[in-house]
Formats: sequence, structure tokens, C-alpha cells
Amino acid sequence: MAERKISCTGIKPTGTPHIGNYFGAMLPAIKLSREYDARYFIADYHALNSLKDPAILKQYTYEVAAAWLACGLDPDRSLIYRQSSVPGTFELTTILLCFTPKGLMNRAHAYKALVAGNEETGHDPDDGVNMGLFTYPILMAADILQFDSDVVPVGRDQAQHLEMTIDIAEYFNKNYNQELLKIPRPLIQSNVETIPGLDGRKMSKSYDNYIPLFCESKQLRKMIMKIVTNSQTVEEPKNPDDCNIFALYRLFAEPDEISALAQRYRTGGMGWGEAKQALYEVAERIIAPLRDKYQQILSDKAEIDKILDDGSRRAQEIVSAKLRFLRHHIGI
Ligand code: TRP
Repeated sequence: MAERKISCTGIKPTGTPHIGNYFGAMLPAIKLSREYDARYFIADYHALNSLKDPAILKQYTYEVAAAWLACGLDPDRSLIYRQSSVPGTFELTTILLCFTPKGLMNRAHAYKALVAGNEETGHDPDDGVNMGLFTYPILMAADILQFDSDVVPVGRDQAQHLEMTIDIAEYFNKNYNQELLKIPRPLIQSNVETIPGLDGRKMSKSYDNYIPLFCESKQLRKMIMKIVTNSQTVEEPKNPDDCNIFALYRLFAEPDEISALAQRYRTGGMGWGEAKQALYEVAERIIAPLRDKYQQILSDKAEIDKILDDGSRRAQEIVSAKLRFLRHHIGI
């Protein structure tokens, strides 16, 4: 069998997975893992920048791991591990720090937004900026470059970080006149922006407009009933292409169901309550078995630890070999 290409991504454990995460990030990355040699990890040290409560960080780490396993990531075929358990990543970060111009980090969106906010409110520009945030893209570059990753599936919000990874790898390679670090290719998941939350904006933890992926079925229905709609009457024909309910419906439903519901929209005579009920039914059909699996996995944390520890051990082996190679070339 030909060597599989390597796919790498990090999952920041900063919240309970929601429907936007599922369709925007998890499902595409899990699909990729069937064809690629997938190396996926829980980016707990990236999360530490913003999440300083130990119990919550720990809980989210388990939830995220259980979610990916429940949704079909196969730990025998793919690597799934905790970022913090692979010390080699942090050694590579130290190496890459020496090749990263400070000016490159000054341009990072997240950092720039914080500084701009401080300036607007008359605060010191450095207020609330820790070095973990400032060097975030360098740790992320190490995550990716340690594996000679071919592709990195991420949302559009991570595009700049990927460009920075490529820049850093190129500075490094240029210094040694050889491609010691493989240049990865970003796979930007562009449908993420089109998954609307309850208020119609992109579904996101930061907008607090999300539907948790694994809430109980009653809660799921309740959340769906909260989706904001316009004030068209039952009789009026409606436009499926301009409707948050329909945008979510098409993610869960089969093609014939999608065209049938679109037809009902256009004909009129269907109220929003009915459209929401239809959405609930197709969503529950997909989510119910995943939820059962998720709860079962989450109920055995020792088993999750075992899976993550095994992944970390295999990851560290790969990373150690890469570090031996790099140390040799840099004269350390
Ligand atoms: N920064 C990513 C996010 O916020 C998470 C992440 C960390 C990541 N390391 C990575 C993604 C490496 C892809 C590759 O979601």
C-alpha cells in the first residue's frame, strides 16, 4: 500500500462541542482520517491561554476526546492524543522561536485585536496580552511541522496561523538551504461560516448562539424552537435559501427530504413551528446514536486516558525521530 499522506489538526478544548463544530470541523476531519494518516490532538496548552480553571479544562478535554471518538475517529487507525503529553512539541517550539521574527507575530489577528481594543479604551496596549497568546502561532507551527504534515484541515479563522506556519518553516529551511521542514497545505473548511446559530450569525461559542451537539433530546428540541425567524405568516410562501432553519435542516437531511421541504417552503401553508419540528426530527435521527455513544465513552474516563496516552506515546516516538534529525542539522 502506498504511504498515506499525513493530515494534522488541533482541537482546542475550550467548550462543549456544538453542531457548528460537528459539521464545520469534526465531520470533515474525521472523513479525511479514513484516507489520510490522521494525527489529531487536543490542544490543551493552547487552551491554557484563555482557560485557567483546572477542573473545567480537564472536563472539556474529556468531552472533546469523547466527542471525536463517538463521531467516528478510530484510535487504532489514527493518532488521537493530548498536546501536553508530547514534550517534543515544546522542544520544537523552542527551536522555532529562534526563527520567528517578532514582527510576524505582531501581525497576528488575535493579538492585534487585543492591542487595538486596549488602545480604544485607553488602556496600556499590552494589557491582558500574555506571551502564550503572543507566541500561540509558534506552538501551532510546531504541532504541524513535527509530523511533516501534508494537509491541515482548519476553519477560515485559522488561515492566518497556517500562513505563519508556512512562513516560519520557510525561514528555517532557507537558513539551512534544505527542506528540513515540510511545507504543509491548509485545507480551509469554508462551510463553517454558513452554519447559522440560533440568532442567524455563524454558530459560535463566543456569540452564545450555539446548539450543543450532545444535549438531551428534549433540550435539543427546545433549542431548535428558539431559532430566530422572520415574521411571515403560515400562509405565505417562504424562501428556503434565506432561512436559518432550512440551512440547518439540509445538514442533517437526505437529498429527497431537502427538496421536499424546500417545496413546502415555496408553496406556503407551513408555519415556522412546523419547519422547526421537521428540523428537530432529522437532527435527532443523526444525533441520538452519537449521543448514546458519547455518553458511554464519557462515563469511562480511565479508558479515554488510556486511548490518549497510547496516542501520545506513538506521537512522541514520531516527534523524537524528527527532533533527532533536526538537532543533527542545526548543530545541537
Ligand atoms: N488554533 C487552533 C484553534 O484555535 C487549534 C490548533 C492548535 C490547531 N494547534 C493546531 C489547528 C495545529 C490545526 C493545527 O482552533
